[in-house]
Amino acid sequence: MNTINDRRRELLKLSALLPLGLATSRAHGGASPNHTLRAAPASMVIGGQSSASALWLYNNSLPGPELRLRQSEPQHIRFVNGCPDPSAVHWHGLRIDNAMDGAGGLTQALVASGAHFDYRFSPPDAGTYWYHPHGKSWQEQARGLSGALIIEEREAPGVDMDLPLLLDDWLLDADGKLSLQGFGDSHEAAHAGRLGNALTCNGHTPQRINVPAGGLLRLRLINVCNSRTLALRLSQAAWLVAEDGQPLAEPLALERSAIELAVGQRVDLMLHAPAAGVSVQLDEVSGKNAFLAAEFKAVPSKASAHEVVPLPANPLPTHLALQDDPLQVALEMTGGAMTMAGMKGMRSGGGVWQFNGVGGMPEQPWFSVAQNRTVVAELSNDTRFSHAMHLHGHHFQVLSHNGEPPVRSPWRDTVLMQPGDQLRLAFVADNPGKWMAHCHMVEHQLSGMTTWFDVARV
Ligand code: C2O
Ligand code: CU
Repeated sequence: MNTINDRRRELLKLSALLPLGLATSRAHGGASPNHTLRAAPASMVIGGQSSASALWLYNNSLPGPELRLRQSEPQHIRFVNGCPDPSAVHWHGLRIDNAMDGAGGLTQALVASGAHFDYRFSPPDAGTYWYHPHGKSWQEQARGLSGALIIEEREAPGVDMDLPLLLDDWLLDADGKLSLQGFGDSHEAAHAGRLGNALTCNGHTPQRINVPAGGLLRLRLINVCNSRTLALRLSQAAWLVAEDGQPLAEPLALERSAIELAVGQRVDLMLHAPAAGVSVQLDEVSGKNAFLAAEFKAVPSKASAHEVVPLPANPLPTHLALQDDPLQVALEMTGGAMTMAGMKGMRSGGGVWQFNGVGGMPEQPWFSVAQNRTVVAELSNDTRFSHAMHLHGHHFQVLSHNGEPPVRSPWRDTVLMQPGDQLRLAFVADNPGKWMAHCHMVEHQLSGMTTWFDVARV
């Protein structure tokens, strides 16, 4: 049997064999990663179907492994690309260093098949986030690459169960296998994007979980679909405590109405589980067929004393300097099916959608701004489709919706715009670097709706 000293001797022998370069990088704090995400092809059955699908998965798991990280603690996550296409990992919603944002082609070169990339960051905000590829997302996400990214509060409110729920829709063929047809198809791209015909929750249809009767549940709903805006209905009243990771100052009572969740968005809900034997259902009702996404069955347990309380605040910039000469910018969305701009763009190969007249990633940024200045952006959706606008590296507040102040202005990183909508939003550009801004309906992103802005370090 190995004693500790034997182990030590072994390790010493090994370290003597290390090439110099590696030894040096260790001395500079290059310890081994605390998490590794390896993307690779995998064959797996999706949500109760009978035939296996040709998926791409992180660590052979659907969804990808749940990453639970501590707020403000340094992380070192290695991404290994075992997929055929070059890729990168984006930590959606985290306000981290630009170089670690994973926006392939803008903040880093895409990681070639067979290569790896080390991400190092300290997540400043607690809450519910997710990670996904930022290469050919329209195929990578449709194949199953995404996972929950949970940043734990330093002092987490007591709950009896904490349940990330990744909701994904899949386009299955007649055999129940993932359709490998039409990734990034231009017809879909010009319309509402790739919409599936099956829904999974954490890879299951439905996800069935036993929960402690009377216990406090924290549900973290994450929309990881390519393009579907989810309409979710919980069979019991609940409290909304966070949106896109950011806590509400006060929990908001939600009746059993539908919760609209656009692609990329998250909500955290708190609810007390019912009496033993009773179930709570989560239904998705956006399509022709309603899907039972999850069922929480209460089982006997010791009663919990946990109450619903507000989540601790995150260190967001507290002051939007709206009086103080903010930078005013505009983003006009045009194109798509049934428009002249869309037809023209399609014919010329320049993408079917445009931001400010340009289809696809422009060479010049949408705007440049000095660090810490407030930006007020006027977004207008002059198309016949809805869009889920996402900004990297920042959270923003909606100031007005079609000229009216909104009922609430939560901090969000993704906002849904209906056809014809005009939104004014504001944020403090406090994070230097080049940041993407795009529609998160990934087929729209692919076919034109993507740009970037530059925050200059001062
Ligand atoms: Cu989840 Cu560029 O986004
Ligand atoms: Cu869109």
